[in-house]
This record gives sequence, C-alpha cells and structure tokens, in this order.
Amino acid sequence: MGPTGLLGLLFFLLLPWSQVYASRGILRSVVIKDPPTAKDYCITYNSTWTTLPSTYTNATFYRLLNLSSVSLCSRSEVPSLGFENMAVLVMDGNCNILDKALLAQENNASMLLIASKDGLPAPKGNKSDHLTIQIAYVKYGDVINMGQVLGKDIDVTLYSPTFAQFDISLLVIFLISVFTVALGGYWSGLSEMEDLRPSPSEDESDRRKKKDENVTFTPLTVILFVVICCVMLLLLYFFYKWLVYVIICVFCLASAMSLFNCLSALIRNIPYGRCRMSCFNKSAEVRLLFLAAFCAAVSVTWAVFRNEDRWIWILQDILGIAFCLNFIKTLRMPNFKACVILLGLLLLYDVFFVFITPFITKNGQSIMVEVAAGPSERSEKSDESYVEVPAESQATYEKLPVVIRVPRFQYSAATLCDIPMSLLGFGDIIVPGLLVAYCKRFDVRTASSSIYYISCTIAYAVGMVLTFVILMVMKTGQPALLYLVPCTLLTSSFIAWRRREMKKFWNGGSYEIMEQTENAVNEEHITGEAQEVQ
Ligand SMILES: *[C@@H]1O[C@H](CO)[C@@H](O)[C@H](O)[C@H]1NC(C)=O
Ligand SMILES: *[C@@H]1O[C@H](CO)[C@@H](O)[C@H](O)[C@H]1NC(C)=O
Ligand SMILES: *[C@@H]1O[C@H](CO)[C@@H](O)[C@H](O)[C@H]1NC(C)=O
Ligand SMILES: *[C@@H]1O[C@H](CO)[C@@H](O)[C@H](O)[C@H]1NC(C)=O
Ligand SMILES: *[C@@H]1O[C@H](CO)[C@@H](O)[C@H](O)[C@H]1NC(C)=O
Repeated sequence: MGPTGLLGLLFFLLLPWSQVYASRGILRSVVIKDPPTAKDYCITYNSTWTTLPSTYTNATFYRLLNLSSVSLCSRSEVPSLGFENMAVLVMDGNCNILDKALLAQENNASMLLIASKDGLPAPKGNKSDHLTIQIAYVKYGDVINMGQVLGKDIDVTLYSPTFAQFDISLLVIFLISVFTVALGGYWSGLSEMEDLRPSPSEDESDRRKKKDENVTFTPLTVILFVVICCVMLLLLYFFYKWLVYVIICVFCLASAMSLFNCLSALIRNIPYGRCRMSCFNKSAEVRLLFLAAFCAAVSVTWAVFRNEDRWIWILQDILGIAFCLNFIKTLRMPNFKACVILLGLLLLYDVFFVFITPFITKNGQSIMVEVAAGPSERSEKSDESYVEVPAESQATYEKLPVVIRVPRFQYSAATLCDIPMSLLGFGDIIVPGLLVAYCKRFDVRTASSSIYYISCTIAYAVGMVLTFVILMVMKTGQPALLYLVPCTLLTSSFIAWRRREMKKFWNGGSYEIMEQTENAVNEEHITGEAQEVQ
C-alpha cells in the first residue's frame, strides 16, 4: 500500500449521522429604565419538565434574585423575605438540582436558574409531579456578563424558538456527499482511462510511479481493513482523550496531501506557468511548490482554529471533501465481489456499533455515538455525581475531525447557544464512493457509456434522501450505511443482471487480464485472488 493509502486507513472511521436534540432555550433579561435594555443568553432546560413559549411577547417576566454566592442546598440559605414570584439564580453543585428546585418552590419562587461553570449540562433526574417551577441552566460567565451589562433590577423570562424539522444544512450535506461521490468516481474513471492508453512518450519510471499512486484492494485486504476499523474504534472508545490528538495530526497530514493531489490534478491541465526550478538534481514546477505551500497552510489553519465552531466547518468540509475524493480515486476495488464484501462487512460493523453495543456497555450508550459525539456525552457522565463542584470551566473537548459538518442554519440565526451541527461521517461518503468508482471504471473498460456509474450515483442520492427521511421520523442519529449500502449494491446488481454482464461485473471484467500483463511487465507479484477469479 502506498503512503496515502496507509494514512487513510489509519483514520478511516465510520461515524453515523448524529444530531444534537438537546433542549435549548433563551433567557431574555431586560431592565426597565431609561432607555430599556435587553439581552439574551443561552440556557438549557428539560422539555419533558417545562414547556416554554416560542417567543417572549406574551411571556411573564420575573424579577431576578442574584444568589450566585450560594448553592441553595439548605433552608438556612433562603433569605427571610422568601422568593415570592421571583426568578432565583443559584450556583450549581453541592446537591441535586431537584433539591434546589424543591426548596425554591417551597418559598414560592417562579423560576430557578442554575449557574454552571462547566458548560451547559442537560437538566435531568427523577422529578416529582408537584414540582412545577421552571428549571434552567445558565452559564456562569453569562451571569457575570449580565451583571456588567444590565446592572441591577433585572427582569427575566424564558422562551424557546421552535424550528422546522428540515434544515438547509441537510441539503448542504446532501449536495456535498453526492458531489464528492460523483466526482470521485469520475476521477477514478479518468485515471483508469489514462492507464488503459499509456502514451508512448511515457517512460517506464513514469508508469511505475502512476501504478504506485493507486492501491488495489483484494478481498483479503478488505477483511483486514474492516478488522482494523473495529480495533481503531475500540481504541478510540477507551483512549479517546489521547488518541483524538493523533487523529487530528493524521487528518492534518492526510488532508493536506489530498488537497494537493486534487488541486494539482486540476492545475496540470492549465498550460501556463510551467517554469521549473531544480535543486539537488531534482526539478519541480514552481507552481506546484506554491500549491504545496498553500495546502500546508490551509491544513495548519484548520489545526489552529479547529475549535472555532462558527466558521471552521467550512475549512473542515473542504479538507474532508479533498480527503474523500483522493481516497476514492486512490483505493481501487478490483471487482464487484470485493465491493460486496467491503460494503457488507462495513454495514454490519456500523449496525453492530450503533445498535448492538448499547446492550453491552455499562451506561447503555452505543460505542459509535460515544466516539462520534465523544465530548458532550462524556461531560454529562461526570455530572451524575453531584459531590464535587467543578472549580473552573473545563477546556472545550476536542472533536474527531472525521466528519463533514454543517451548522443547522435556522439555529445559528436565532440562538446564542452553540450551534448544533448536522454530521456525516467520511465513511458514509467513501464506502459507497468506492463502489461508484468501481462502476465508473467498469464502464470505461467495457465501454458501456456510463450506465453503471450514473445509476449507482443516483442510487446513492436516493439512499441519502432515505436516510434523511428516516432521520426526521426517528429523530435520532442514523447509521447512513444501513440505507446507502442496499441502495447502491442492489441497483448495480440489477443493472448488471439486466445487461447480462453479472459474471463479468462480479469478477472485474478485463481487469485481471490487464493487471496480469502489467504485472508480467513489471515483474511484480500476481495475487492469488486474481488467478482464482479466472
Ligand atoms: C399575545 O396576546 C395577545 C392578546 O392576548 C394576542 O392577540 C397575541 O396573539 C398574543 N401573541 C402571541 C405571540 O401569542
Ligand atoms: C407562599 O405562598 C403561599 C400562598 O400565597 C403563602 O401562604 C405562603 O406563606 C408563601 N410562602 C412563603 C415562604 O412565602
Ligand atoms: C429530562 O428528564 C428526564 C428525567 O426526568 C430524563 O430522562 C431526560 O433525559 C431529560 N431530558 C433531557 C433532554 O435531558
Ligand atoms: C422516582 O421517584 C418515585 C417517588 O417519588 C419513586 O417511586 C421512583 O422509584 C423513583 N424512580 C427512580 C428511577 O428513582
Ligand atoms: C450576581 O452576583 C455576582 C457576584 O456575587 C456578580 O458578579 C454578577 O455580576 C451578578 N449578576 C447579576 C446578573 O446581577
């Protein structure tokens, strides 16, 4: 395997769709004085406990009582005047939030705001029915800010804007994934065409180099590949904190190389500016050197600003697309048999780690979702013990960069909370992409006017739409491969069956013949698989 293949393999992880459906709302705080001032802050609340209005127009405002120096765990902490019709703000920690709420409600408070220094947790617990007070978390930093901006005599209310099920981000993800799969397949077909018609001017070393660029899977390597994926996922589950940095480094390297490969393939077609520079017996086109510097700069920029949620997703998606394109073009499936094994095994892998592992793990979370959502899930876990108060806000958790992510646009326009992201794992693009690329190369070899390629790409798009529909109905993350794999495999088999080319399609058509002659020329090994097939 070439270096690119190895790098890719290292962090070829399959993450499912996952979306954040936490209940977030807004705390609107106003001061009625001249001039009236208002400011909004992000809160989290539990929608099964409280229903919030969707706007603040008709909402009741309560006077804010700033008790942020106490945590309201004992009666001695209640001021003698009580909380008649007030919104009480207390610190998190020392006791369960429901004990605080009970104490606040007994003293006639209307709302309990809990200032958290540890991000915004989700309020949960065994709430009894007679506890009707509104309960919400607010960030401690926001409490300080509120005091600075609004001063004293603040009135507050809670509301939660409603959002449509469908968000533009889904459309963006759809376009990105179908574009990447289609272009990756097309590119793979182009390089196949070049291989089939070696131009006479090319010398032996050039051809050898070209062959090294691409890596062909055999059924055995496919199985090995899936085993490595499983091991990687388990390692990540247990050693997330450290391995996430390894993955980030590998992503930086691999995506910079991929971006370079993609862009240099484009640039080579531009006939201008081919001046060369030579150094130590090696010569390179100056523009390619510039391109390499540019790609390195892009990837370093991503690494530096990777936690800037508001805009970094654009860079991450560009690098991700380049990575997927390069992967689809470089790794070649030799025949449909290998495709079926790869897609089938990865489908099982996805389903196993999403749906079966919740029955095995201690906390009932699926390993896949834990790794994919890693950070937020983990911070909630530490919340179960209410013994210690976190001293200061913890650093934001690192997220795995192996997903295409797009912010949910309706949220970003309307809230101050962290924007929920729609995510699609690279695997959901690459795995079907390898099949599409095989279809395209089969088209090229059998000169069948792209029928396999086009129908397989359409099947992929249909599978994505199916994933969205099921996602919106079930409202939880979905392993997209569950829908993409059957769609693409069945469609391409159907086409092969209708065109009576199943045998050829299954065995890879003229591929082995070409492979063997080339191997004979290059004196390289002939894989046992290729012989067996014939
Ligand atoms: C607010 O109340 C007024 C009068 O009761 C009503 O006409 C209006 O529709 C309400 N607005 C909202 C957003 O509920
Ligand atoms: C709470 O309100 C009720 C009814 O208005 C009142 O009887 C009770 O004394 C109040 N409790 C406190 C602690 O103010
Ligand atoms: C709301 O509270 C219930 C328990 O009362 C809990 O099961 C549920 O997960 C909570 N919801 C959220 C969004 O945290
Ligand atoms: C929740 O509280 C009720 C009574 O308040 C109790 O019967 C029930 O067992 C509790 N559930 C859990 C999961 O603690
Ligand atoms: C609440 O009190 C803390 C200090 O106890 C202060 O820093 C903060 O600004 C106050 N916030 C509001 C909203 O009054």
